[in-house]
Amino acid sequence: MRALAVYQLKGGVGKTTTAVNLAALAARDGIRTLIWDLDPQGAASWLLTDESAPAQDGFWKDHQPLSDCIRHTRIPKLDVLVADHSLRKFHQRLASKKDAEQRMRSALDMLAETYGLVILDCAPVMTPQMEGILKACDRILLPVEPSVLSIRAYEQIRHDFDWVKKKQWLPFVTMIDRRKADHVRWVNDELKAYPEFLRTFIAYSASAERMLVERNPVVEGHPAVPLARNYRVLWQAVKPLLELR
Ligand SMILES: Nc1ncnc2c1ncn2[C@@H]1O[C@H](COP(=O)(O)OP(=O)(O)OP(=O)(O)O)[C@@H](O)[C@H]1O
Ligand SMILES: [Mg+2]
Repeated sequence: MRALAVYQLKGGVGKTTTAVNLAALAARDGIRTLIWDLDPQGAASWLLTDESAPAQDGFWKDHQPLSDCIRHTRIPKLDVLVADHSLRKFHQRLASKKDAEQRMRSALDMLAETYGLVILDCAPVMTPQMEGILKACDRILLPVEPSVLSIRAYEQIRHDFDWVKKKQWLPFVTMIDRRKADHVRWVNDELKAYPEFLRTFIAYSASAERMLVERNPVVEGHPAVPLARNYRVLWQAVKPLLELR
């Protein structure tokens, strides 16, 4: 089993959009996939299921079984570990970075009995507990919008998370809007200073908003649109790097 975190310190850069589309593509590839919604906003859960589940705090606070919080989605082989408002407190339930890492590692060990891939949809926070969670994951996918604050947030993470091994780190450019001169200039002139970036791009697209209205990943609802094609290319780049067994 592999654990892939989708993380960025900057909010609204397409983490959830990326997590649900890659999860749908992995499941369609025959991999039993769980999307673990770790954001109290619960956007990924809301997108993928109508069902409620017991509060995740039962797991974080009282060590109750995670399986109680897992629901099937409309997509075969894709389940979701449902988020709820109680997650705003989960950082308080973990004593330290080390505690978070150990709790996450043992949870992932248990999930490995059922799933081939766990994708974590993370909240845009940089607490020691979040760092511990990320340390327990095999790969960290970082959507970076080519805008000043998103790039700055990426540089902060790269500086502070100096424990990340080279192959764990998967940054990529997202929400690139070719009508914006600054986006185009950054990708053409400055991206070469970041050799660690995947060379796949997610374009800015109105299909991302439509996906929310329809509550269905774009790769499922509109597989022919450019955004769905972008996500398929991203999945083809990420899949071999996961070294799934
Ligand atoms: N490629 C895209 N083109 C245009 N809009 C997009 C794209 N990807 C995502 N969006 C839109 O941007 C908004 C934020 O996307 P999303 O929720 O995926 O980001 P996030 O990083 O998970 O946000 P948060 O930090 O709040 O969790 C949503 O309205 C979404 O529809
Ligand atoms: Mg999100």
